Amino acid sequence: MAANDYRGYLRNHMDMEHGGSRFQQPTQSAHKPLIFGTLAVMGLLQVASSVTILLHLTGYLREVDLPSAQPIEEVHSEPIIADAFRDIKKKERSRKKDQTPVAHLPVKTPMDFASTDSKVVTTIHWNQFHGTLTKVKYHDGRFVMEEQGLYYVYAKTCFRYAPDHASKKQDVSNVQLIQYIFHESHTQSKLKPVLLSKSGGTFNWSDPNYNMYCVQQGRSVRLGQSDGLFVNVSNSWLLDPEPEGTYFGVFKMST
Ligand SMILES: *[C@@H]1O[C@H](CO)[C@@H](O)[C@H](O)[C@H]1NC(C)=O
Ligand SMILES: *[C@@H]1O[C@H](CO)[C@@H](O)[C@H](O)[C@H]1NC(C)=O
Repeated sequence: MAANDYRGYLRNHMDMEHGGSRFQQPTQSAHKPLIFGTLAVMGLLQVASSVTILLHLTGYLREVDLPSAQPIEEVHSEPIIADAFRDIKKKERSRKKDQTPVAHLPVKTPMDFASTDSKVVTTIHWNQFHGTLTKVKYHDGRFVMEEQGLYYVYAKTCFRYAPDHASKKQDVSNVQLIQYIFHESHTQSKLKPVLLSKSGGTFNWSDPNYNMYCVQQGRSVRLGQSDGLFVNVSNSWLLDPEPEGTYFGVFKMST
């Protein structure tokens, strides 16, 4: 009886090893559970190994490396993991405390600047989900400081126009491309932002293929807590939507 079973087992086993065809013949639908099962197991293994590496890197599994180490009892593993995570959180918190305030955001796309009136200025909105925001908040086109101090603020805006590819031809024989950086002091009236810096130029863009111009400005400025910074530009409909072309940043230099 047992011998028969064993032979049966061997046969099956060898079928599995040598008879690849056994597994090629079933229909697609028969494969699916197998594939999903395999993927699930692989996924679990991945998670397990990631956790192991994490614990290892944080030094919690050092004892396992000892040659004489006995298998860690299941009972111990939970407190160890909890301790590890508590420790990581604590480290993160203390790291956050002595982090330098810094922010860098690319322009938010798609841009919705309908006006092509060259006299209109627009506040640029930035993509807060692609970039850095550490101890600086973002709200409605503005950086809002969490800490007072001496900061360096910079902004770059590129403008471009390809007349031959434009859906609607515009007159660009006399365009003003100006960038303004404003400081909104928390203690002052919101209606009176202070102009920190302006730069740009006027152009007669006569190249039918492609015209491009970039403005970059930067300067130091003393900012108070909850102060805001924002960038206005003329002719925002010409803004380059690429994150390398148009961005805004600030970082703290000292107290
Ligand atoms: C900046 O642009 C906005 C339009 O988006 C405008 O309402 C505001 O008055 C401008 N600010 C300054 C100081 O020019
Ligand atoms: C712009 O340049 C074009 C071609 O060089 C010229 O014909 C036109 O008069 C210029 N426009 C202005 C406003 O200077």
